[in-house]
Amino acid sequence: MAARTGIIVVGGGLAGISAAIEALHHTSHAAGVTITLLDKEARTGGNSAKASSGINGVLTGTQLNLGIHDSVDAFVQDTLKSGQGKANQTLVEKLASESTQAVSWLQRDFKLDLDVIAQLGGHSYPRTHRRPDLDGKPQPVGWGIVGALGKHLSELAGLENARFKLYTGARVVRLLTAEHGGVAGVVYETVDPDSKVIQQHTLLASAVVLATGGFGGEGSRPHYLKRYAPQLVGLPATNGAFATGDGLGLAVALGAELVDMDQVQVHPTGFVKRNDPGNPTKFLAAEALRGEGGILLNALGRRFVNELDTRDHVTDAINKLCSAPDTRARHSAGVDVVAGEPSSAAFLVLSQAAANSFGHGALGFYEKMGLVQRAGSVEELSGMLRVDHGTLLKTLQDHDMARDSGLSDEFGKSTFPQNALNPLLPSGAGAEQQQLQYYWGVVTPSIHYTMGGVRFDDKTRVLRAADGAPIPGLLAAGEVTGGLHGANRLGGNSLLECVVYGREAGRQAAALVAEAS
Ligand SMILES: Cc1cc2nc3c(=O)[nH]c(=O)nc-3n(C[C@H](O)[C@H](O)[C@H](O)COP(=O)(O)OP(=O)(O)OC[C@H]3O[C@@H](n4cnc5c(N)ncnc54)[C@H](O)[C@@H]3O)c2cc1C
Ligand SMILES: *[C@@H]1O[C@H](CO)[C@@H](O)[C@H](O)[C@H]1NC(C)=O
Repeated sequence: MAARTGIIVVGGGLAGISAAIEALHHTSHAAGVTITLLDKEARTGGNSAKASSGINGVLTGTQLNLGIHDSVDAFVQDTLKSGQGKANQTLVEKLASESTQAVSWLQRDFKLDLDVIAQLGGHSYPRTHRRPDLDGKPQPVGWGIVGALGKHLSELAGLENARFKLYTGARVVRLLTAEHGGVAGVVYETVDPDSKVIQQHTLLASAVVLATGGFGGEGSRPHYLKRYAPQLVGLPATNGAFATGDGLGLAVALGAELVDMDQVQVHPTGFVKRNDPGNPTKFLAAEALRGEGGILLNALGRRFVNELDTRDHVTDAINKLCSAPDTRARHSAGVDVVAGEPSSAAFLVLSQAAANSFGHGALGFYEKMGLVQRAGSVEELSGMLRVDHGTLLKTLQDHDMARDSGLSDEFGKSTFPQNALNPLLPSGAGAEQQQLQYYWGVVTPSIHYTMGGVRFDDKTRVLRAADGAPIPGLLAAGEVTGGLHGANRLGGNSLLECVVYGREAGRQAAALVAEAS
């Protein structure tokens, strides 16, 4: 006989975890509703655990404390503009108007110190919240959020008569259909650790939440990418290899519609590792590096773009303007052509002031990984980048002049978070001057996020291709869904969608269980 649970959540990234927590909150012990979360990996967290720039929120306590006069409307407009007419306004409005609660839920209920705010590309105010260093150590934001929420869930799972169950190493391979065309449960596979034999299990439920993430991690076995965005096959990616779009196939088998599948976000700044330039998996250079004042240079030592433009525009600029032999940034390994070097790449450079506001914990981590190097002066920097010293100096000075002018510069940049040139300290302060550094790395566009996915509505119901009606019992949240971001996702909007729509899915699932009993 098949096992039965009240609600199944497929995928243990931030969307799935948020859904599970909220579903528990809205179902009762008395009714004995159980919630089962399945993740195919050995541990939960997904791509959510990798997030490094932060989560968006407007009118949050943190924004108010810092005197940032943002609004829901400004956030909606920025998101719609970035979506280039393809983002669904109803879905965007819900995202923005519930962002205040989403951030305060994390801050209050899970004691997360999301008190550092950056202004990322395409945003008209600083609204992307992340965590400060603690005792000089970085506290990566995605890791921290998933960790705190996951800890809460595992404590619940450990209780006697626990209503919450977590199965890791459990890959969902099929959704079961109910008589009315809805979902009746899932089939999942586990691998016996000793015999390595694959075992199939059936689990029935009144509601299934798909939270399986995107398909940006298909890597050398492109399936959706090959079909919908073949021009990107072969690009490096920032995603984990588990991000293979499983939820899309599961939902389509029940008649779900897919939308915006060709809208794949290429992040402008995946780090090119000095001694491993050809690795297809790139460590992300967090957008907050630019949000805190990092600038981009071509191999001639010149700026070429508004670093705080949206990701699609910055990516286009790197591809167009940093791909010729003399404009493509390279490491100064002394080797001219390293096998596997990306075809377009730029230098990312931070002044000491930018580094200070980004935080030395995370920066030190990049250094340790061989992604970022230091230079003690413009002269040393120009030597390392192999660019003309005068050109580089002028680039940094021009940036700072534009910053001082209060106007926008030739690239349309109007927000200049920090100076690019380290100030000269008064003579006699030699020891201190030694400490003012430049931090730099080589970055290249990398597949990062898939805007497309299953069509869903503001109640997270998955919609059918045939008639647009909801598939009974089937909900979805997070990167597996499409239609919210349109043609380009703003930085910080994904963690936010996971919380807003993950929690909504949890509430909807709870309501479905109540109906069924
Ligand atoms: C390097 C990096 C940095 C990022 N930084 C930010 C940031 O700063 N701010 C921001 O807003 N966004 C950021 N993003 C994007 C964001 O982290 C993700 O898009 C988002 O967290 C996706 O969450 P999710 O819950 O939908 O999916 P995921 O977190 O990817 O979780 C999906 C889970 O589903 C599981 N799964 C998949 N298929 C199955 C199956 N068949 N059966 C069972 N389980 C399955 C996977 O194992 C995985 O654990 C970043 C992304 C990356 C890669
Ligand atoms: C946007 O989403 C809403 C709510 O889910 C839905 O009613 C509407 O039809 C969608 N609009 C478009 C253009 O898809």
